[in-house]
Amino acid sequence: MKNIIAFAGSNSKNSINKELVTYASSLITEANVTILDINDFGLPIYGIDLENSQGIPDNAHRFLEAIKKSDGILLSLAEHNGAYSTAFKNLFDWMSRIEGKTFYGKPMLLMATAPGGRGGASVLEIAKNRFPYHDAEIVDVFSLPFFGKNFENGKITDKELDEKLKTSIGKFEKAVSEADLSKEVA
Ligand SMILES: Cc1cc2nc3c(=O)[nH]c(=O)nc-3n(C[C@H](O)[C@H](O)[C@H](O)COP(=O)(O)O)c2cc1C
Repeated sequence: MKNIIAFAGSNSKNSINKELVTYASSLITEANVTILDINDFGLPIYGIDLENSQGIPDNAHRFLEAIKKSDGILLSLAEHNGAYSTAFKNLFDWMSRIEGKTFYGKPMLLMATAPGGRGGASVLEIAKNRFPYHDAEIVDVFSLPFFGKNFENGKITDKELDEKLKTSIGKFEKAVSEADLSKEVA
């Protein structure tokens, strides 16, 4: 059984992105999924002076190790002022100082949700353009707009959007298994 990690790019205890990524995880049938919470990997705000004086904190190493050991990544990003949340960007910045190829070529399903109608479109655009420079293998991108209207009791209520996510999950699971096959051949 392969191992997938799932997490939200948010440090909110009531993160709607965590709710979405948890639902997406429940749709995975062919792998174990570990849901991570970035609150369990607390980090000081990145700064070059801090890095030079104290080095890179263990929690950045721990999170990066979880990515490295995984066979795929489900990630749902919160959007703050059209970009990553500070908490996610901070984790990303610290990890990128250890390893520029931060996502190790792992298949990734990139998601976002927001209370509004754009469903995190701006942060998705940023991540879609940037993550490949960090060796992310983005298999598909899924956005859930109007979270309050389209999500209830742990599930997407809009049939069309739910089908869309299920199609994305199917592509993601296929990529995870094909990545495996190519490793076996190599
Ligand atoms: C500082 C701040 C900036 C925000 N900026 C945006 C934004 O640019 N676009 C958007 O759709 N929602 C924005 N929101 C609303 C968030 O989408 C909303 O708080 C959402 O719950 C964040 O996801 P999370 O619950 O997973 O943390 C912002 C919220 C905060 C606190």
